[in-house]
Amino acid sequence: MNTALIRKRLVIGNWKMHGTQVSNAMLLTGLCAGMAVVHDCDMAVCAPFPYLGQVAAALHGTGISWGAQDVSKHEQGAYTGEVAPAMLVDFGCKWVLVGHSERRALHGETDGLVAEKASAALKAGLAPVVCVGETQAQQQAGQTHEVIARQLAPVLALGAESVAKMVLAYEPVWAIGTGLTATPQQAQDVHAFIRAQLTELGVPQVRVLYGGSVKASNALSLFAMSDIDGALVGGASLVPEEFLRIAAA
Ligand code: PGA
Repeated sequence: MNTALIRKRLVIGNWKMHGTQVSNAMLLTGLCAGMAVVHDCDMAVCAPFPYLGQVAAALHGTGISWGAQDVSKHEQGAYTGEVAPAMLVDFGCKWVLVGHSERRALHGETDGLVAEKASAALKAGLAPVVCVGETQAQQQAGQTHEVIARQLAPVLALGAESVAKMVLAYEPVWAIGTGLTATPQQAQDVHAFIRAQLTELGVPQVRVLYGGSVKASNALSLFAMSDIDGALVGGASLVPEEFLRIAAA
């Protein structure tokens, strides 16, 4: 079975901590208006928590799905400031980013916690987008595969049935928001490594997105790689024309 044929492309925008009600409305209107250029590609945006209701209302019935950027590992309780998976599901959320490198680096999220969050998200019916990626120092020390394997291990340990419902995203930390992008071949090399682990688990069909300074100008060459199934897009997802051109690539 050629799983590349059944892995529909997926492009997810990660708005990070950007936006206002007014700027979001313009961005969402632009996305909906330009959707016709996008074919055979699933599209989604991951917005800050307070704007999820706005995003849900604007994208209802458009075919663009949406998600959150983080989620608690807890179901409910005395966890001030946290957002439970069931709360996201309560108003129709589909995706949630888990283990983004900014959460790992700035909020101390460990590989174990990332797996716990992914598991909690799945249990509530969300589709986790689990992010992995090495730092520049790790890359230069030749540790990329080792780091990715370590980050993935507790996630893959959740089992084939769980992993089958996830999306993975390879985002080299040195390429995020820096304008540096992995070359298509560099990215493909890591994606093939991840694919091999998914294949070993029996879930080669799981989509693996690339992230890190993806733009309309480099999307096509990245998407030409056999194990790159789409993109997780930060900065460029805030400009509707740019994001649409990536999804159309
Ligand atoms: P970037 O961010 O596209 O701005 O590099 C990607 C991400 O952090 O998901």
